[in-house]
Amino acid sequence: MKIGVYPGSFDPVTEGHMDIIKRSAKMFDKVIVAVARNYSKKPLFTAEERMELIQRSLQGLPNVEVDSFEGLLMDYIHSKDAQVIIKGLRAISDFEYEFQMALMNRKLDSKVETIFMMTSYKYSFLSSSMIKEVASLGGCIAGLVPENIIPDIYRKLKTIR
Ligand code: PNS
Repeated sequence: MKIGVYPGSFDPVTEGHMDIIKRSAKMFDKVIVAVARNYSKKPLFTAEERMELIQRSLQGLPNVEVDSFEGLLMDYIHSKDAQVIIKGLRAISDFEYEFQMALMNRKLDSKVETIFMMTSYKYSFLSSSMIKEVASLGGCIAGLVPENIIPDIYRKLKTIR
C-alpha cells in the first residue's frame, strides 16, 4: 500500500493546501495529512482545531486521513509505514528551506522520498499567515480557504483581540 504523508502546520488550512491534498489523493492509496503539534510559530488554532478544520474541508476524499504528530517527522513516517513525504511548493522563496528539510529527512532515512508538488498558479501567493492577517484586518478571504471554515477563522481571531 502506497502511503504518503503531507505534513504541515495548517494554521489554518488554505485552498492551496486543499489543492495539494486533492491532487496527491489521486497518486497514493492513502494520504495522511499530518498536523505538526510542536511547530515553532505560536499557532492561532490548537492542533485539535486545525485537524477538525481540515477534516471538515475533506468532503469526498475517502483515502485521506487527518492526524497529528509531535517530534521528528521521520519517526512519524516510520510509525505509519509511509514511504513518501508530500510537500507543496509555491514559489522560489519556498525552495531553500524545503530543500534543506528534504535533504535532512533523506539523511535520516534514505528510503523515504520527499516529493514536491507545484501549487496551482491561482494559489501561488497564498499562505496561512497572510490569511490570518487579512482576516484580522477585516478583509475578505472568500475563495482562499474552504468556504465552510471562514466563520471559524473570523470567530477565532475575535477571541485574541
Ligand atoms: O507548514 P510548515 O510550517 O511549513 O510545516 C513544517 C513542518 C511541520 C513540516 C516541519 O517543520 C517538520 O517536519 N517538523 C517536524 C520536526 C522535524 O522532523 N524536523 C527535522 C526535519 S527537517
